[in-house]
Amino acid sequence: MQFDTTFTTALIRWGHILAGIIWLGFFLFLHFVVRPYVLCLKGEAQAEGYRRLIGRGLRWCRGAGITTFLLGIGVLGHLWAKQAYSGASVPLNGRGRFIMWGMTLAVAMLVNLLFLVSKAQNGILNAFASGLGPSDQQFARVRRLSLVNVYLTGPMLYLMIFANNFGPLFHYGHVGIGVVLGLATMHIIVILAERGARVG
Ligand code: HEM
Repeated sequence: MQFDTTFTTALIRWGHILAGIIWLGFFLFLHFVVRPYVLCLKGEAQAEGYRRLIGRGLRWCRGAGITTFLLGIGVLGHLWAKQAYSGASVPLNGRGRFIMWGMTLAVAMLVNLLFLVSKAQNGILNAFASGLGPSDQQFARVRRLSLVNVYLTGPMLYLMIFANNFGPLFHYGHVGIGVVLGLATMHIIVILAERGARVG
């Protein structure tokens, strides 16, 4: 095994993917499993559920999301530095272009999580703490913001992962296919999950 930039890039990429799985896994679990359960609870039990399950789960999502971002930028920096210091000037290839689009969606999801979803959730936690309880509009806003990330998960992963398989074939029609396929798949998951939640 060579302990050179190949090894360190692989290690950072591994950490990046692990953190990404934790971020998205926790987020989808909170959205599809924890949120419907907590909404069925009443009074103090609901406030406790929100604080201990959703509040805590979101802290995991934020930590893993920031780690994913930093390690993603780390891999990018490594690859860039390797090229810059070798004196080579190679244009961005198809794989890189897919990944750039995946990164764009992932960064939009991170901004939504860190600033909009978290702020709206804090509003709900504060309303519970004040004793007045949150309004239906507050719950609806969090659900809408959270759905944005649920839907973006499909296209983002398509672009980030299929970059390896389809990199040499890059064209914008293919990016479009990824976006449509990703959104359609997430829509099916949302419908199935909502039916399941009604039955349960
Ligand atoms: C938060 C913003 C993100 C940034 C800035 C980012 C950045 C990157 C970069 C630069 C690469 C290329 C690494 C390379 O060439 O070896 C990459 C690859 C990858 N990323 Fe991300 N990423 C982000 C989010 C995510 C998320 C949320 C996931 C979900 C698990 C993810 C999964 C992957 C995977 C699986 C690869 C490997 C693709 C391959 O080997 O072709 N990324 N990412």
